[in-house]
Amino acid sequence: MNSRLNILYNRKPCYDIVITADFQDLEQELMALEIQERKVCVVTDSHVASLYGDEIMEILHGICKNNLLFSFPAGEENKTLATVKDIYTFLIGEKFDRKDLLIALGGGVVGDITGFAAATYLRGIDFVQIPTSLLAQADSSIGGKTGVDFDGFKNMVGAFYMPRLVYMNVGVLKTLDDRQFFSGFAEIMKHGLIKDAVFYEWLLDHMYEICERDTDTLLEMVEKSCNIKKLVVEKDPTEKGERALLNFGHTIGHAIEKAKNFSLTHGECVALGAVAAAFISWKHELLSMEEYYEVRDMFVPFNLPISIEDIEPQEILRLTKSDKKMEGESIKFVLLKKVGKALIDRTVTDEDILNAICEIHYVEDCE
Ligand code: GLY
Repeated sequence: MNSRLNILYNRKPCYDIVITADFQDLEQELMALEIQERKVCVVTDSHVASLYGDEIMEILHGICKNNLLFSFPAGEENKTLATVKDIYTFLIGEKFDRKDLLIALGGGVVGDITGFAAATYLRGIDFVQIPTSLLAQADSSIGGKTGVDFDGFKNMVGAFYMPRLVYMNVGVLKTLDDRQFFSGFAEIMKHGLIKDAVFYEWLLDHMYEICERDTDTLLEMVEKSCNIKKLVVEKDPTEKGERALLNFGHTIGHAIEKAKNFSLTHGECVALGAVAAAFISWKHELLSMEEYYEVRDMFVPFNLPISIEDIEPQEILRLTKSDKKMEGESIKFVLLKKVGKALIDRTVTDEDILNAICEIHYVEDCE
């Protein structure tokens, strides 16, 4: 069943997340934003353009006169200021003004770049998110984080900027390849682990339906997951405190992502980072040993890795410490107190991190 969540920003209603299984309601949702007289630019990547570009442009042709599509080559390596510059150049060439609108059609890279272009073009124009990956539906399209990678640092330049609408069609998840699907699933699992043990159990109980990508299960899963993220970002929209809990698994995860030159998916790295963080949680006597092994093993049926070959632990430690989750000399590390409850810890040492990296490294006798 379709559902709608309204996200508050500074305690005021800000934008809706519409969760459906097709694009049938998109026209009506866009009409409600009064786009008839506005120019609209759909920003997408080469991969998504070929899948859904025509369908979305056809919907737009029915409601407004000035529709354009801007496509850039797919891939995290294009999440750069250079791509944002190309978008600005395109919008200037097409005489976009402050009342016009961008639509981000794609996964996390497209959403982050388009949101950043919208936040900064003419000091801010409206944008809509149509996330087409599970990662973007579960995580990156919600909460207004926009930005690009810079000089090898992920999401180093950006802005908090809220969309006018997030339209999620879970039907598109059926065409994702398995690696991309389960990559997004890692963020969903993360939401259960940090905030909601009942949801975590629900995920495990629905393992078969999730892996089969049953439509009703996907609708329910995405709605429950979005609701957890909604509650977190509403309380702390600009990550002054609680929102940092969403970085569970990302501290070491981002370091692995970078060390492996983005050859692993984001979710695979988050799963590895989550196992490492759960290991530290055990060593800090927050989780019991049984709980640690349970958390670790639950990634396996969802095709997510719990160990990795060919890493250099000291290198991962160095990269972990160069991530922007550092505050002064200490790392803001997210640990689990139990399943469904996370906390921020500033006492995690280099030795803790190295031991955790060795735990997920396949070589038994690493230093
Ligand atoms: N992806 C983490 C956040 O939105 O804060």
